[in-house]
Amino acid sequence: MGIPLVDLKSEYLELREEVLAAIDDALQSMQLFLGPNVQALESEWGQFCGVEHAIGVGNGTEALHLSLRAMGVGAGDEVITVAWTFFASIEAIIHAGATPVLVDIEPDYFCMDPTALEAAISDRTRAVMPVHIYGHPADMDAIKGVCEPRGIKILEDVAQAHGAKYKGRAAGSIGDAGVFSFYMSKNLSAYGEGGMVTTNDDEIAADVRMLRDHGQRQRGTFECVGYNSRLDELQAAIVRIKLRRLAENNEKRRQHAALYDQLLQHDEIITPKVASDCEHVFHLYTLRSRRRDEIAAALQAADIGFATHYADPPHKSPACAAYGLDKANLPVTEALADEIISLPMYPGLTESQIEQVAETVLSALN
Ligand SMILES: Cc1ncc(COP(=O)(O)O)c(C=O)c1O
Repeated sequence: MGIPLVDLKSEYLELREEVLAAIDDALQSMQLFLGPNVQALESEWGQFCGVEHAIGVGNGTEALHLSLRAMGVGAGDEVITVAWTFFASIEAIIHAGATPVLVDIEPDYFCMDPTALEAAISDRTRAVMPVHIYGHPADMDAIKGVCEPRGIKILEDVAQAHGAKYKGRAAGSIGDAGVFSFYMSKNLSAYGEGGMVTTNDDEIAADVRMLRDHGQRQRGTFECVGYNSRLDELQAAIVRIKLRRLAENNEKRRQHAALYDQLLQHDEIITPKVASDCEHVFHLYTLRSRRRDEIAAALQAADIGFATHYADPPHKSPACAAYGLDKANLPVTEALADEIISLPMYPGLTESQIEQVAETVLSALN
């Protein structure tokens, strides 16, 4: 591929010696079960996010599911979220035994619309799950303003926004709990599966710890039916290496985004907006254009990677249709599905590659 959407191989080659040494250390120690790397990563990630507890789990989907269970969400409850997300956000609500209720997003940052949220609250609403999509935080104060007076829990889905900030606070430290994925393409990633829950709530933290390890608080005592969803020691060792570079890499992503913004000034393109009180981490750099399909064709012809998350929003999938979610009234979500396109974005992207991508995009419109 000429310019890929993400370049994981180059990143690996840069980190190879460190990664192989860390894996070897872990294997030599044979402490592979919730061992020193998991414990160190939990402490380092908790510090990075400014929260009291960080709990490593098997992946982001399980982090959502276990957090919902730890918040007491179950059968008969409704959890409000958005359809402008990866399928897992909705899937986790169903795994918890609750009913997903989908609300629309606002058109500027593509995050949960607090007015739509308020209109969807019912006496069964137990939790709300805003998704900080593409790396931009949702409007947490407005969401808290709706939830807190009603005693509704907030679970932030931060799977795409490691290191993003809302009014100076880390995404994942603002609601009752936050959930991260270390899937390989994320801003902070493993070379396999991994996830993390962050919270300042002692009870949620204790319950997630119990649930991830077969319902045990003490080894051998199964207090409830839990899960086998522990963060793997080797993956934790890898994530720790990458965490040391996360802030710098997020800064590079912001610089790349600024260059794209500058080069892509065109009246048929809307470049990503950033709220004045937020720090975006550009997990994805996503444009809006009515001529999306022409842009996609030009990129394809030039061998440049792109993606269209979420041209098929998850609520339209057969799995969600089985729950009637395809009938949700989501006009902004559905309009965006035909207009969005994500361009190559990763820390190692060069200026000349960005120029080449921008030229190709503009060539489709002129
Ligand atoms: C918004 C969102 N939520 C949840 C997940 C699930 O994370 P994982 O793939 O680690 O299960 C992902 C990513 O894959 C995601 O992008």
